Amino acid sequence: MPDTLTITDNRTGKQYEVPIENDTIKAIDLRKIKVKDDDFGMMAYDPAFMNTASVKSKITYIDGDKGILRYRGYPIEQLAENSTSYLQVAYLLLHGELPNQQQREEWRANVKGHTFIHENVKKLMEGFRYDAHPMGMFISTLAALSTFYPEAKNIFDEATRKKQIYRMIGKVPTIAAFAYRHSKGLPYIYPDNDLTYAGNFLSMMFKMAEPTYKVNPVFERALTILFILHADHEQNCSTNTMRGIGSSHVDPYSACAGAAAALWGPLHGGANEAVLHMLDEIGSLNNVPAFIKAVKEGKGKLMGFGHRVYKNYDPRAKVIKKLADEVFAVTGKNPKLDIALELERIALEDEYFVKRKLYPNVDFYSGLIYQSMGFSMDFFPVLFAIPRTAGWLAHWQEHILDPDQKIARPRQIYLGPAERNWVPMDKRK
Ligand code: SDX
Repeated sequence: MPDTLTITDNRTGKQYEVPIENDTIKAIDLRKIKVKDDDFGMMAYDPAFMNTASVKSKITYIDGDKGILRYRGYPIEQLAENSTSYLQVAYLLLHGELPNQQQREEWRANVKGHTFIHENVKKLMEGFRYDAHPMGMFISTLAALSTFYPEAKNIFDEATRKKQIYRMIGKVPTIAAFAYRHSKGLPYIYPDNDLTYAGNFLSMMFKMAEPTYKVNPVFERALTILFILHADHEQNCSTNTMRGIGSSHVDPYSACAGAAAALWGPLHGGANEAVLHMLDEIGSLNNVPAFIKAVKEGKGKLMGFGHRVYKNYDPRAKVIKKLADEVFAVTGKNPKLDIALELERIALEDEYFVKRKLYPNVDFYSGLIYQSMGFSMDFFPVLFAIPRTAGWLAHWQEHILDPDQKIARPRQIYLGPAERNWVPMDKRK
């Protein structure tokens, strides 16, 4: 049987053969379906891209029904278990293969050579109010980097592009930590390149008067795993934004700032902060049934549950739940954990959630760990943006080098008024 779709337009009785490739049809092939010859032709209407592939990608694979997530073919569980560093996974996402020893050393040296930020960037951050949200500071400062590296707009020059990638992966932890220190009125701690990526970040966040920051190995390992789990996730809202902005061929700093802005939304990367606020609102175990009842009546959502793709348990949530026990063994159990576990127990057996295939996602337990590690709630989206920067850059690079791609410019269904004439002021209602 041929790999084609035969479409019959019942308005005209005409039949059309549309080729099928990768189990999809090209939307542009629908344009030949017309009633009158001078019609524009058929389009597909797909708000929020519920069933539209906008790109071909080789980076990340998700099977939502089976709860599968793989970076360049490697299962997320194996990467979290075996990779001793986030940078190794960032290399995999950007280059397509795990680095050998030499490549790994070069990559680490290149990124570590760019962990400092220009002193003027520090001064720019000092202009924010004391209570500025750290994610707002992160987004703005990332965009400002484009003014410090004007050569970044030469996106098709490979050496220049690589240097901006080193800079961004190297600097996002520094910008994040400086935003946190600013919001606490604490002096900035400069990068310590003798530490690991996660260890250096913890040092810039929490070092006080001690000469050298003593990294807690449990926190370092937990943060490394959390960074690996959050590094990429295929065509999510913020990555789609990164590709959309990148399609205009603007510099990668401006594109990343836009992607981080999309991530900040409570339905996306802002969900782990929203989960903690939800758990605070519930307050105690005996309020859980009333809260669940309200959600089922459509009064609010169970934050940290549900996913556009996963209609099974988010594989990252499984790893994070296991990690929580290791962190709580050091910090003491987060008192909100019991409420979270009870919410999960009910949601996994209640028809309302089962029917809608709502399972805990990556954000449900991550906030509990971050809070127990000493991060403030408003910092959670920043903790998501740091590791996701490698994913955004990998997709951005794949997009601008993809011969299929052009500037992103969707069509629309126009339902507004037909042509009409100007109305002078004295004639208006
Ligand atoms: C991330 O895309 C990615 O890959 C994102 C991410 C990544 O790594 O980049 O995985 C990270 O963003 C995880 C998701 C974090 N967000 C939250 O936890 C917020 C709570 N979740 C929901 O807002 C929602 O589940 C979404 C936004 C995640 C997905 O929404 P969809 O796919 O548009 O699903 P939907 O809103 O159409 O929901 C289908 C039904 C609806 O009910 P009905 O209208 O059919 O009666 O399920 C209901 C929704 O009301 N529903 C929920 C719910 N999520 C969906 N009801 C209660 N609580 C929820 N959390």
